[in-house]
Amino acid sequence: MHEFSEMDRRSFIQGLAALGVLSVTPASLLAGCQPQKSEVGAERLPQVQSCDVVIIGAGGTGMAAALTAKAEGAAKVIILEKENTVGGNTNFSSSGMNASETRFQAEQGIEDSNQLFVEDTYIGGKERGDMALIEHLCDNSAEAIDWLDSIGIRLDNISQTAGTSVKRCHRPTDGSAVGKTLVPGLEKNVGQAGIDLLLGENVTRIIKEGDKVTGVQTASGNTYTAPAVIVATGGFGANFEMIKQYRPDLADFVTTNMPGTQGDGMRMAAAAGAELIDMDQIQTHPTVDQEHGSLIAEAIRGGGGILVNSEGRRFVDEMKTRDVVSAAELEQPGKYAYVLYDQQVWDKNKDAANYDKQGLSVKADSLEELASKLKLDAAALSATVAAYNEVSLSGASDEFGRTQGLAALTSAPYYACKVAPGIHHCMGGIRINIDNQALDADGQPIAGLFAAGETTGGIHGANRLGGNAVCDIMVNGRQAGRSAAKLAKG
Ligand code: SIN
Repeated sequence: MHEFSEMDRRSFIQGLAALGVLSVTPASLLAGCQPQKSEVGAERLPQVQSCDVVIIGAGGTGMAAALTAKAEGAAKVIILEKENTVGGNTNFSSSGMNASETRFQAEQGIEDSNQLFVEDTYIGGKERGDMALIEHLCDNSAEAIDWLDSIGIRLDNISQTAGTSVKRCHRPTDGSAVGKTLVPGLEKNVGQAGIDLLLGENVTRIIKEGDKVTGVQTASGNTYTAPAVIVATGGFGANFEMIKQYRPDLADFVTTNMPGTQGDGMRMAAAAGAELIDMDQIQTHPTVDQEHGSLIAEAIRGGGGILVNSEGRRFVDEMKTRDVVSAAELEQPGKYAYVLYDQQVWDKNKDAANYDKQGLSVKADSLEELASKLKLDAAALSATVAAYNEVSLSGASDEFGRTQGLAALTSAPYYACKVAPGIHHCMGGIRINIDNQALDADGQPIAGLFAAGETTGGIHGANRLGGNAVCDIMVNGRQAGRSAAKLAKG
């Protein structure tokens, strides 16, 4: 039921086009779904190319790694991407990038510290994350924000995600989904930097000679040799065989992940000797449309949105971590909820217009009309919103303990999206150190092999905070690029 067919791939590409995510026409991508042929119709002959750094995957991690490797002196950097488009799951990254002690926070009078960011991440991950990796993430987060700014990607609109103590989720100036700014921005810089980005080139094996990784091989028979290989292939959130293996209880959940998120990099790195850790730590996101697996961003709740059940009642502090909110939702009648918000929340989240366009939201001029459209008890819904508004305006204590992201819902029209939990993020993966070297079961680096982003394990422990994935892919993508360039330069 969950295997992705050519049909799924086609509707996925068409969906991306409808969302305005793609910079090329879907027709060219759909054509690209077919095996590539040379002009005379014959399969291309296998090639061998030598370079300094090979990166597997052109998502946010891979592109950040490539740009950094190049800037740090690696002369020839190649990114190999199995899909026919760039960006991977970064395309869907909605809320933003967590970072602490940034100049944008300082300009906006937000007090934060790297230490507080470390504590939020460690506690949010149920005290299971690796402290050295967490400190590395948080301590380098402001630098990553400045680096993005220096290459034309400004994230200065700061919001808050669940489980964080202060506003540190950095978003594009206009409040749009971060992925839609990051992916085209990184892709443009990759082009300008003279980095080779090869689409439709599916890496199937990491080559190891003796103790050293020396390159990769692709499904088309091509070989790319390099002293440094970076795995940046994301998690396995769309591979239901692996989900069944590691978390059979999630086998029937929908996924927010793109079909290509198959855990390839993890399996290839393991075959090259890397240890995989925490593979059963898979996060469900509580606000996922069940028909398409589309995400309703956490920023909607962070801006004041609430969750109500089929009785029109709230049931949880909506700013608790994703594991807590997902579990609370599954206890409600029918195991679903509605994310409810008003026009002022809509105005702060450009992506909300896409929910309307995709038919994910129901819109009404009053709460009574919204209740009628959703077939909810109108009196119960109005009382719920009135009670929440009172708390938001007075600062009195909320019966569910919510103290973050409060904003009275008083600006009609109102919106509601029906949601339930969906598979979202793999916290487990390739074991790494703070230089992003892939480690074996004895904790020893595998020479020439690096990994970054969701393909790695250990940072997020048992639960990842919203906004920490983009921080991870930028900070660790950059670190992997730095380490790989250093090795390549000898
Ligand atoms: C969201 O905005 O809810 C998803 C982004 C993330 O997982 O950090």
